Amino acid sequence: MSVIGCGYLGAVHAAAMTSIGHDVVGIDVDEPKIQALAAGKAPFFEPGLPELLTEGVASGRLRFTTDMSAAAEATVHFIGVGTPQQKDGYAADLTYVNAAVDALIPHLKPGDIVAGKSTVPVGTAAILAERVAATGATLVWNPEFLREGWAVQDTISPDRLVAGVPSGAQGERAADVLREVYHTAIATDTPFIVTDYATAELVKVAANAFLATKISFINAMAEIAEVTGADVTELADAIGHDARIGRRFLGAGIGFGGGCLPKDIRAFSARAEELGRGESVAFLREVDAINLRRRDRAVQLVVDALDGDVYEKKIAVLGAAFKPHSDDIRDSPALDVAVKLRGLGADVVVTDPEAIENARSRHPQLTYAERDEALTGAHAVVVVTEWDEYRRQLSPAHASSLTAGRIVVDGRNCLDAPAWRAAGWTYFGMGRP
Ligand code: UGA
Repeated sequence: MSVIGCGYLGAVHAAAMTSIGHDVVGIDVDEPKIQALAAGKAPFFEPGLPELLTEGVASGRLRFTTDMSAAAEATVHFIGVGTPQQKDGYAADLTYVNAAVDALIPHLKPGDIVAGKSTVPVGTAAILAERVAATGATLVWNPEFLREGWAVQDTISPDRLVAGVPSGAQGERAADVLREVYHTAIATDTPFIVTDYATAELVKVAANAFLATKISFINAMAEIAEVTGADVTELADAIGHDARIGRRFLGAGIGFGGGCLPKDIRAFSARAEELGRGESVAFLREVDAINLRRRDRAVQLVVDALDGDVYEKKIAVLGAAFKPHSDDIRDSPALDVAVKLRGLGADVVVTDPEAIENARSRHPQLTYAERDEALTGAHAVVVVTEWDEYRRQLSPAHASSLTAGRIVVDGRNCLDAPAWRAAGWTYFGMGRP
């Protein structure tokens, strides 16, 4: 098989498919990335990926190249390129998907399967399918549900597999080919759901929209908790016991970020508007607004805790990645909080176990340091990414031995609040008294 696009999705997919026995060539236009992958090195932090890459490359069944003609040897072609938010609007930018399909088409043969994995606006597959069909190949839409930090496991053992196929015998055959591709997951009873293109495309955006809504729901409850003295974490525990609601993704804090949830809900809104159904997902604008407000709330807590003025106060910002187990800083709430505090004149020092390099290249105006150096002399500490390094391994007593002040703002509600209070800290959570 070929995997076109070797970013997060593609690189993990290529390595994971090799690990379950396939012969894979990964193709990308980014020469340095391809060189790194070909040397068995992961170009980003993802637990388990370096091992799979090394094994795959050593086995000779995993190759990486910038030469699209290598796709000619494959019979199944995955499209895993990015669909970022457009620079001047909410819609998804399909430049890379179109470019990948354009480049692939001359190398397709009758009978080949092209499997789209990128997250696209509903209706995209139907348009691409005609162009693919002209070569005698068949397009399937096979969305990806991997989470960064668990990407390898999610690819090898997903919750479900979805295949959007054309109607008739051609579609049935295409679904059978995907069953072969994912034979290991199917052997362990992973649901394999065959649909039309539109449903498959929508499954992906609907899932991300639901997850974003769940997070913003609990963050809206946090806002209510803040004016009533209630505790949103106890509220989440209590409602989470209802199996219909469930506790997962009810973590209140500074909200969601990353390369998927924020841009996917915006692209969904934009697409619904185009379809004349903007009102059906108008609530996603609210989901977005609640989410962005929580970053400001964390900043406000710091400002209030420092008596209304952070100017030239040293603030240790613990976290830069949009979530733990990742070095991804795309739309990171953590860095947004850091940038806002810095904008107010604070002497902000950011630390993160994995994401400092990425953060520095994106925000060179911020100061970066190792954890204890960041804490040294700080007037306030803000936890914005719930790495174990902060929630479990940092004791309040150790923090006290380094900082100048005893103010901690827990932007992820991840610290043991009683323990910090007992050690003399003034603790502020999100939606907690
Ligand atoms: C998300 C989805 O969870 C995946 O299923 C999907 O495949 C992926 O997007 C994608 O479209 O490619 P990911 O972006 O890796 O995965 O991150 P999540 O684990 O969903 O977390 C997103 C954000 O929500 C993070 O900033 C996290 O800190 C935040 N979050 C999560 C909360 O604020 N509260 C929670 O309770 C859970």
